[in-house]
Amino acid sequence: MDHFQLKDGELYAESVPLARIAEEVGTPVYVYSRATLERHARVFREALEGLGRVHLAFAVKANPNLAVLRVLARAGYGADIVFSGVGKTPAELAQGLDAGLGQFNLEHEEEGHVLSALAEARGQRVSATLRVNPDVDAGTHEKISTGKADNKFGVPIDQAPAMYARLAALPGLRMRGVACHIGSQLSNVAPLEAAYVRIGRLIADLRATGHAVDRADLGGGLGVRYRPEDVVPWPTDLGEMVARVTKDWHVELMFEPGRVIAGNAGVLLTRVVWVKPGVTHPYVIVDAAMNDLARPALYGAYHHFEAVRPSGEHMTAHIAGPVCETGDTFAMSRAIDRVRSGDLAIFRTAGAYGATMASTYNSRALVPEVMVDGDRYAVVADRISAETIMNAERVPEWLAD
Ligand code: LLP
Repeated sequence: MDHFQLKDGELYAESVPLARIAEEVGTPVYVYSRATLERHARVFREALEGLGRVHLAFAVKANPNLAVLRVLARAGYGADIVFSGVGKTPAELAQGLDAGLGQFNLEHEEEGHVLSALAEARGQRVSATLRVNPDVDAGTHEKISTGKADNKFGVPIDQAPAMYARLAALPGLRMRGVACHIGSQLSNVAPLEAAYVRIGRLIADLRATGHAVDRADLGGGLGVRYRPEDVVPWPTDLGEMVARVTKDWHVELMFEPGRVIAGNAGVLLTRVVWVKPGVTHPYVIVDAAMNDLARPALYGAYHHFEAVRPSGEHMTAHIAGPVCETGDTFAMSRAIDRVRSGDLAIFRTAGAYGATMASTYNSRALVPEVMVDGDRYAVVADRISAETIMNAERVPEWLAD
């Protein structure tokens, strides 16, 4: 459930008409709903109640806006406490140590050696897990699958016991357990279950060889509804499956949800520039583009399009942005609300992997972000103009004349 709903024939974010935000802040603009973020955070947390010790770490990459993080931190999510990533540089590892991060998820053995040496030099012993690649097919888009044997993430599960033993012997590391994340936008929990069953066997093997294992990081990945007809797993489906699979693990379970918390808590508000006749269908040209919302161009992703003041009439159209690339197309031959030049519209489910993946391609401004809270709203990220970006560029003296 989200708080972007029609009231008296026009779309609101909570109690604020989207048209007001468009008027006052301009378009394109991302709009987040605080109540929706809080609701998703609560529903996810409640679905995992009863699992014993649980640590929730919001996947900051999904939406790193500071106001969003503040909402989630208040809801009990420990953003940024777990450091994952296949390319953490030694300098970043050192920074993480200096910042006192709670846990490092190691992606391979050499990284563990470097982290141990850095920690030892600081007189620290740092908590770490080994990220395992369980070799399961997440059944999602290939570009967001991470748990197949040949993906770049984690270590092959059959090599994990020996590697874990070597890492556990290092003086700067306190190996706490294992981590896995097999992909994003999963449409059911079966692939997660297959992965967790393997993780369970690994934990038992590690314990049998004398290792203490007290944490298992189960990653993120739950899919959300992009199309009205999408059938997606509920957090309670995850909770029930995890309770069943992990009942004998006796560890602290960690989760890194991203999309399920933020996805439907944000929309991209845009204005129709023109409705241009086309050969098969008209082109609805909007003022948002692939640089503002990259997912359709990158993954062929679907984002539901709705008029802010729907007339009740419909049309079939292509929807595209103004950038000079055919990839700057949000939809082809889509049945949508009838819109005219100057109308406002939204792309839904844009709260995760939306603004954070924006760029300034085509010398476009960096898209701003707004958060709504009841009947008030605030700009939580400014529009950064092309001029400001150009001001950070330099023409060297030897090119000046
Ligand atoms: N944990 C790790 C280690 C991850 O790599 C990710 C996401 C998550 C947790 C959060 O996954 P979620 O709950 O959001 O599925 N840009 C793509 C999605 C990339 C996901 C990257 N990893 C998209 O727009 O679909």
